[in-house]
Amino acid sequence: MRKCNKPILINSFANQRLVNCMSKPKIYVTRELPERGLNMIKKYFDAEVWPEYAPPPKKVILDKVKYVDALTSLLSDKIDAEVFNAAPKLKVVSQLAVGFDNIDLAEATKRGIYVTNTPEVLTDTTADFAWALLMAVARRVAEADRYVRSGQWKVAWHPAMLAGRDVYGATIGVVGAGRIGYAVAKRAKGFDMKILFYDVVPRPEIEKDLGAKKVDMDTLLKESDFVSIHVPLMKETHHLINAEKLKLMKKTAYLINNSRGPVVDEKALYEALKKGQIAGVGLDVFEQEPASSDNPLLKLDNVVLAPHISSASLETRSKMSEMVAENLIAFFQGKKPPNLVNADVLKVKPPSKLI
Ligand code: GLV
Repeated sequence: MRKCNKPILINSFANQRLVNCMSKPKIYVTRELPERGLNMIKKYFDAEVWPEYAPPPKKVILDKVKYVDALTSLLSDKIDAEVFNAAPKLKVVSQLAVGFDNIDLAEATKRGIYVTNTPEVLTDTTADFAWALLMAVARRVAEADRYVRSGQWKVAWHPAMLAGRDVYGATIGVVGAGRIGYAVAKRAKGFDMKILFYDVVPRPEIEKDLGAKKVDMDTLLKESDFVSIHVPLMKETHHLINAEKLKLMKKTAYLINNSRGPVVDEKALYEALKKGQIAGVGLDVFEQEPASSDNPLLKLDNVVLAPHISSASLETRSKMSEMVAENLIAFFQGKKPPNLVNADVLKVKPPSKLI
């Protein structure tokens, strides 16, 4: 319950007290979220939900945020200074994703707006999917599926038919050994793989728990049979994998990316695949999403593609929606939200109880 201008006077025999009136904070929810979180949001907030599958156009967001105290967002909603300028009452943005490169954090922090995300609940789901891509491209699963469906399977069995590469016992290079990178490496243990990793921060746990070896980026690229990318998108990681880096990889090696598309220079990747500089790629993320139907990568057989669905399991999506709601509720109860990503905002505006 939040304070309003005119508190109501309650008379009772036991005591006489002022209570605050019942207005709920207003929130704009940019997509129909899984039920669990959405129901929590509706209980505490006066919520308006964008009903369509496609994102609301920017002009809709700009219009809706004029009146709201809170906003939920997805990674396909660009939440920038223009949005914040249109939102004089906005106090918190609760993002349904672990990544938040779609939100201008500096602009939010400057204005005392809290930004939260949904880490951890999606770590294993996302690591599983990196492995789904890895197995699919190395063992040619997607190609095999197309082969059977399209009627190309005319000969029952041949030793050369769709022969791929072994995964077990190979070397995996994990680029970015945070939560998801660690979970990918943990799965590699079960395949008796040698694990290399590269990170800009120390990651003693992956070395200690999994026997992974820290190497520089170039060594990782030269020695790995599978290179799996798990870094956030930042200025420093934009085109981290470019033409020069791709040239360092083995001709027999595969690249897996389910972090963010712009971490890999997609044109350079296409050229490397065409020239046979690397063996194949598994991609869940693209420089431009949705990927255009004339993206040349779509024409290559040694490429397994997915539409940014690494954390898309029903269980995880439900937990993510719950976290979106929990972050919001904590904020409006005057607590530091559990998954605050712009901690500096606490210096600009400490939390205060609003419900
Ligand atoms: C998905 O890409 C996420 O950041 O959660």
